[in-house]
Amino acid sequence: MTLKEEIQRRRTFAIISHPDAGKTTLTEKLLLFGGAIHVAGAVKSNKIKKTATSDWMEIEKQRGISVATSVMGFDYEEYKINILDTPGHQDFAEDTYRTLTAVDSVIIVVDIAKGVETQTRKLMEVCRMRKTPVMIFVNKLDREGKDPFDILDELESELQIAVRPLSFPIDMGERFKGVYNLYRNGLDLYQPGRQTVTKSVSVDIQSPELEEHIGESLSAKLRGDVELITEVYPPFDRQEYLDARLAPVFFGSALNNFGVKELLDCFVEIAPSPRPVQAEERVIDPYEQPFSGFVFKIHANMDPNHRSCIAFVKICSGKFERNVNYKHIRMNRMMKFSSPTAFMAQKKEVLDEAFAGDIVGLPDNGNFKIGDTLTSGEEIHFKGLPSFSPEMFKYIENADPMKAKQLQKGVGQLMDEGVAQLFTNQFSGRKIIGTVGQLQFEVIQYRLLHEYGAQCRWEPIHLYKACWIESDDAAQLADFKKRKYQYMAYDKQGRDVFLAESNYILMMAQQDFKNIRFHFSSEY
Ligand code: G4P
Repeated sequence: MTLKEEIQRRRTFAIISHPDAGKTTLTEKLLLFGGAIHVAGAVKSNKIKKTATSDWMEIEKQRGISVATSVMGFDYEEYKINILDTPGHQDFAEDTYRTLTAVDSVIIVVDIAKGVETQTRKLMEVCRMRKTPVMIFVNKLDREGKDPFDILDELESELQIAVRPLSFPIDMGERFKGVYNLYRNGLDLYQPGRQTVTKSVSVDIQSPELEEHIGESLSAKLRGDVELITEVYPPFDRQEYLDARLAPVFFGSALNNFGVKELLDCFVEIAPSPRPVQAEERVIDPYEQPFSGFVFKIHANMDPNHRSCIAFVKICSGKFERNVNYKHIRMNRMMKFSSPTAFMAQKKEVLDEAFAGDIVGLPDNGNFKIGDTLTSGEEIHFKGLPSFSPEMFKYIENADPMKAKQLQKGVGQLMDEGVAQLFTNQFSGRKIIGTVGQLQFEVIQYRLLHEYGAQCRWEPIHLYKACWIESDDAAQLADFKKRKYQYMAYDKQGRDVFLAESNYILMMAQQDFKNIRFHFSSEY
């Protein structure tokens, strides 16, 4: 196969959802179709169950599993599929945001009864920011839920994207009959209790054959529904989908493996192969011969005695090869890798080559940070995802004076791994850790102790938001920093951050200092 063919057949995507909508179940069913696993129940995603919020063994176990299932690669027909797993627990939302920098498209799973939930909304914001094409799977049609047209309206208004149903359900819950596939014009009949599509027939919606399958009243309703869809929604336009302006919608039941193959078949056909990536210097085309890629995730190893990590590299262009020298741009150093890993579902194996679109795991002991670029030699820098203002803040204090160095090193490395964000108060020098959830504080404390032998203590600090500030008015900026000196901090890159105690204080600051721009993310 030529380089171009190899790259064109790649589909690298993430499945995202609010916890419990069915992401794990859908992932598993997709793997079954790819022949990557043979029995249901084989995939334990790195989902941390709600009950396990403080169960350390559980988190450790999950972390171990999540290396194996972080990326699930498999062949399906002529395609090479890479599914990037994202943590189910919302306290690790940052992790998910970063994973989204490495995908070419996304499938969103929504529960028919619950509709669009908070986490889905937040993740969609990131997709919108990055113009990532999304497809939506409305799940759990075997249960009672909202009216399908209401769900479509809700998706459109809550996710702020035009939608186009490519399948449509025939009733739901106990009376669920199946879906009409509008993409292929066929009827997929559902039989409760079965794990597969029992009958997939191509039936013209107007033909009397429809009645034979689903009876008179449902046929009439389906015809009405389909007519309404063609009236209300414009015909499906793939370019609109690729431009992230339109989301195709499928209905089904992941648990019953219903509607999943239809989703997959349409997905491989219309979803984008690796797309050009904007680096700081220029746009990198995936089909360029020279290799380039960036680190989007760093995963600490399970074995606390060897502080070795795996750096996950998304290949943006060309071909990556084992034992070939590549340039680590930040360190300005050539490096080669003797045991890069490919992630196939359920197992890792050493790879000899990988192509744009693939994810490669590089064993690492401290050389990589999130956002690092590797190339065949060209000086380019890929832009990562900006940091967002954390939601929770605590002072981190050393609880073991003998281990101050270990603590400093541990905190530094955990921050490089992207576990949380570190701010240093410009006045007192005290260190503040910002997270999106309580669980991250617990993970940090646990990992500092087990991987670095350092002990930390958390002390409360009441903060509302961290705002990155800038201004063209140097005098006003200096005045602001002087007046707010107790609340000024540096982020990891040394940029100015204002730590606002409350929404009110922030609003007042914005009002009083009109020439200062307050940003809630680190990139502006
Ligand atoms: P998540 O990864 O998005 O968090 O969701 P997950 O797949 O774990 O699914 C959450 C729950 O919803 C699971 O039940 C799962 O069996 C159920 N589920 C998924 N798809 C469907 C579907 O199409 N129909 C119905 N009725 N249920 C579905 P659970 O009881 O929480 O977990 P488990 O004990 O079954 O593993």
